[in-house]
Amino acid sequence: MSKKIFSGVQPTGNLHLGNYLGAIKNFVNLQNEKENQCIFCVVDLHAITVKQDPKELKKNIRETAATFIACGIDPAQSIIFNQSMVSAHSEAAWILSCVSKIGWLNRMTQFKEKAGKDKEKASIGLYSYPVLMAADILLYDATHVPVGDDQKQHLELCRDIAQKFNNDFNAPDFLKVPEPLIQKQFSRIMSLKDGIKKMSKSDPSDLSRINLTDNKDEIFNKIKKAKTDPLPLPEQAKDLAKRPEAENLLGIYSSLKNQNLEISVSEFSGKNFSEFKEKLSEALTEIIEPISKEIKKLLNDEKYLDTILLEGSDKADKIASKKIKEMKELVGF
Ligand code: TYM
Repeated sequence: MSKKIFSGVQPTGNLHLGNYLGAIKNFVNLQNEKENQCIFCVVDLHAITVKQDPKELKKNIRETAATFIACGIDPAQSIIFNQSMVSAHSEAAWILSCVSKIGWLNRMTQFKEKAGKDKEKASIGLYSYPVLMAADILLYDATHVPVGDDQKQHLELCRDIAQKFNNDFNAPDFLKVPEPLIQKQFSRIMSLKDGIKKMSKSDPSDLSRINLTDNKDEIFNKIKKAKTDPLPLPEQAKDLAKRPEAENLLGIYSSLKNQNLEISVSEFSGKNFSEFKEKLSEALTEIIEPISKEIKKLLNDEKYLDTILLEGSDKADKIASKKIKEMKELVGF
C-alpha cells in the first residue's frame, strides 16, 4: 500500500549520527519504496522557538537541505522544502492551537527539558511547538511519520489534535490521523560521553556526537575518546542491561551494519573495547565520510540548494494551500 510520508528536521546546525540513524536513514528507505509519496521539511519555524542568529539560520537551512540530499533523498522523487516558505503551516498552527488543550501541552516532556528550570522565560513558541508540528503533518494528509523515539509523545499529541478538530467541526476523517514510524531498535542514539543522555545537537561537547560533517580523523578520535566501562564486551545481549555505553556503541554498530544487536554482541563477545572501537570507527567512516564529503560539496553550490528548496516549496504549497482553505471553511471563515 502506498504511504504518504511526512517528516521534518530542525535547521539548528550539527546534524548528527542520531538524526541519521534515528530518522534520515529511514526517510531514504521509505523514499526507495517507490510507491510512497514523501515530503521532507526543513522546519525553520520550529528552529526560531529558541534564539537564532539570522545569518547562521540561513546557512543551517541550506546545510539541512544538503544533508537530506547527501544522505540519499532525491529531490526529483521526494519534496524537500523549508517550512517558512509555505504560509499554511503558520495558519494551520494557529487554528489547531485553538482546539488544543493547555493540559495536553503541559504534559510534553520535551518542553520541560528544553525550557529547563526557568519556564517563565521560555518563548511561547517553544511551548506551542508540538501544535506547529501537528500542523506540518496534518496539512499533507500524511499517513506515516518517521521519527526517532524522542518525538513519540509529539506524534501522540498530533493524533489527539486531529481527532479533536474533526470532532469539534463535525468533519469525520477530515484530518487524517497519522501513524508514527519509530524503529523498534536503535531509535534513540545516546551521547558518546554519557550512555544515558540522548545524542544531541545542543550538547556543548562536540565529543558527545558524531556530526554528519565529520571526517575520518574526527570520527576515529571521537570513538577513541567515547566513554566505556572496565569490563570486556559481554557474551549475551541481556548482559548489556546495566552497561549503557556498551549498549549504545554496539547499537550504533548494529544499526550501521543493518544487523540485530545479538549478532554484533556475538561478533565481539569477550573482546576488549579497543578492538571493537577500531571496527566501529571503520563502520562509521564507511557510512559517514561519503555523506560528509557530499554535504561539503553541495554547500559550495548555494544556488542549487536554493532552487531545490524553492521548487519543493512550490509543490508543498499546492498541497497545503488546498487543505488550509478547506480547514478555514470548516472553521467558518
Ligand atoms: P529534530 O530536528 O530534533 O530531529 C530530527 C529527527 O532526528 C531524530 N533524532 C534522534 N533519533 C535517534 N537518536 C537521537 N539521539 C536523535 N536525535 C534526534 C528525531 O527524533 C527526529 O526524527 N520536532 C522535530 C521536527 C519536526 C517534525 C515535524 C518531525 C517538526 N515538524 C513533523 C516529524 C513531523 C524535531 O525537533 O526533530
